[in-house]
Amino acid sequence: MSEVGTTHEDLERFLAHHHLVGAGLKREGVAPLREGNTAAYWSWEGIYKGLMQSGKIVTVGPGGMTGMRSVTGIEARKFPIWMNAQILMPGERTQAHRNTRSETRLVCEAPPEAFFVCEHEAFPMERGDVIVSPSWTFHDHWNRGATPALWIDGYDNGYNGGVNLNERLPLDAPYQDIRKPADYGVRTRGRARPHKTESPYPLPPMRYPWAETRAGLHALAEAGEQDPCEGIHLMLASPVDGGPTLPTIAWHAQMLKAGQKTQAHRHNSTTFYFAFEGAGSIHIEGEELRWAQGDIFAVPAWKWHHHENGASRDSILFSIDDWPAMTKLGFYRKELAQP
Ligand SMILES: [Fe+2]
Ligand SMILES: [Fe+2]
Repeated sequence: MSEVGTTHEDLERFLAHHHLVGAGLKREGVAPLREGNTAAYWSWEGIYKGLMQSGKIVTVGPGGMTGMRSVTGIEARKFPIWMNAQILMPGERTQAHRNTRSETRLVCEAPPEAFFVCEHEAFPMERGDVIVSPSWTFHDHWNRGATPALWIDGYDNGYNGGVNLNERLPLDAPYQDIRKPADYGVRTRGRARPHKTESPYPLPPMRYPWAETRAGLHALAEAGEQDPCEGIHLMLASPVDGGPTLPTIAWHAQMLKAGQKTQAHRHNSTTFYFAFEGAGSIHIEGEELRWAQGDIFAVPAWKWHHHENGASRDSILFSIDDWPAMTKLGFYRKELAQP
């Protein structure tokens, strides 16, 4: 099914065919859960067409739906963490809120005038940027440009006891005022920073520009340094302590060189991947899943898996993984297969 149609019902049918559901749409008649070891896989064709049509027929912001317009894999909520995809149309701004789960986003495409607003600071949104609103930080999205802004969200829903406390601004004000200067976070959380002795929570919002992530990947590639299981692999580190991105989840970016095959391994954390550039395959307990740019897929806990890039060009994956939460709880285990 490649046509998205024109009505809400058409869109629901299209999304269900692609194992997706949309916020603001009915969740009836969704496709059965996918069978197989990968447990979750969503194609960019379904995500992109579903988002673009949602942008036309589902309204967001004050007066529209209270949350963010999204499409989510129907299997996603089986996992403690997950990704979904969101779109903000030209001129739209979502209503500000904060909640106990952490919200993180990877920008797929956005006009230069689109911003993510968090704790009264406006963050630019360029393709490949990861922008994080940690638990209990006020945030909203604002697209002042002429084209849609699309991004992939990553959540740590499974770690807030199933009760995602949600709060609006005082007096139900729709938006935060932007009162921090440009690049406030960059300028105050580098090597020179205010000396603070109080609790670090809520953690500060963070933006990881693609230009920096890309430069890091290429530096590792030039140095020939890589992880046997992941290829050329970076963690987006917390600016607070240099550890994982958040207490619950870490964002990673990895480059798989043309022709590369990584070592099989398993761990009891969950990984959600977004295919950022190129194509490749992941092999999970004998099942091969081929992916291409824009696809989302998940590796469930404790399944043997490895990556292959059979293409003639390098590929880039972004991912979230809940190894930080699992490690803190004392549960984390990882095994490598014999090479
Ligand atoms: Fe949110
Ligand atoms: Fe893995």
